[in-house]
Amino acid sequence: MAALYDLKDRVAIVTGASRGIGRAIAIGLSACGAKVALSSRKEADLKQLAEEISASGGESLVVPCNMGKQEDVERLARTVEEKWGGADIVVNNAATSPYFGPFVETPLDAWDKTMDVNLRGPFLLSSLAAPGMKERGRGKIINISSNEGIDPSAELGAYSVSKAALIGMTKVLAKDLGPFGIQVNCVAPGLTKTDFARALFEDEKLYRYYVGKTALKRHGVPEEIAATVVFFASDESNFITGQTYAVDGGETMA
Ligand SMILES: NC(=O)c1ccc[n+]([C@@H]2O[C@H](COP(=O)([O-])OP(=O)(O)OC[C@H]3O[C@@H](n4cnc5c(N)ncnc54)[C@H](OP(=O)(O)O)[C@@H]3O)[C@@H](O)[C@H]2O)c1
Repeated sequence: MAALYDLKDRVAIVTGASRGIGRAIAIGLSACGAKVALSSRKEADLKQLAEEISASGGESLVVPCNMGKQEDVERLARTVEEKWGGADIVVNNAATSPYFGPFVETPLDAWDKTMDVNLRGPFLLSSLAAPGMKERGRGKIINISSNEGIDPSAELGAYSVSKAALIGMTKVLAKDLGPFGIQVNCVAPGLTKTDFARALFEDEKLYRYYVGKTALKRHGVPEEIAATVVFFASDESNFITGQTYAVDGGETMA
């Protein structure tokens, strides 16, 4: 990726950077030269990644943040502003899915947590990053949705609704911020081997069901999602905005 994209002098924020897809995104952005603010709830995991990035010659900053908490998200934006003058790239990757079962039986607290972390947090972080991006006349916001946001499963209802809304928010942000030279795009991963999807990998029947729906008949790995995110973070995607790109082995097709 480093040979393809030049992100030198760019500052990125990656939420949910401590493991899985977010970790691969942070490593990919750093490999292309970006300074990366690493964010999630668990500081120890982020520090470990920061050490790895530093060992590879990259620069990063650890900012613990629960995306469901307004004060945490505000502190994340403020810390990056104070340290590096604000973010050129925001990757809204952190997400939660606390409930699996019949949609109409979703407990309200699970609904609220899902919407707060998956939707309200990305809205707030994008809003806080926007003024600086407008001032500089450039910026990239990349939302990580899911194939569930395109073709939902009833059992993942609240999560799927939040991910569909994130696709909608991508379009609204793209229209709102486009006149200022800011591109907003969305990546919708399919089944990817991470902790998040562990329950599906451990259940042979469910795994076969989900993999069976893909054209490629396999799951993805975090680096395959990160590659598209880094493209959306780069100048090579400057004429693309408001789009959702499915990286799902051909499970959903536009
Ligand atoms: N894996 C898949 O099959 C799949 C498919 C479609 C879409 N996705 C999407 O891809 C993105 C990344 O998922 P993943 O598979 O990489 O998951 P993962 O391996 O479980 O990683 C999730 C990351 O989010 C952080 N996180 C969780 N709750 C948070 C909160 N409230 N505030 C801040 N950070 C939080 C976690 O770190 P801490 O625990 O330290 O907070 C971790 O860094 C998500 O948006 C997910 O919806 C994944």
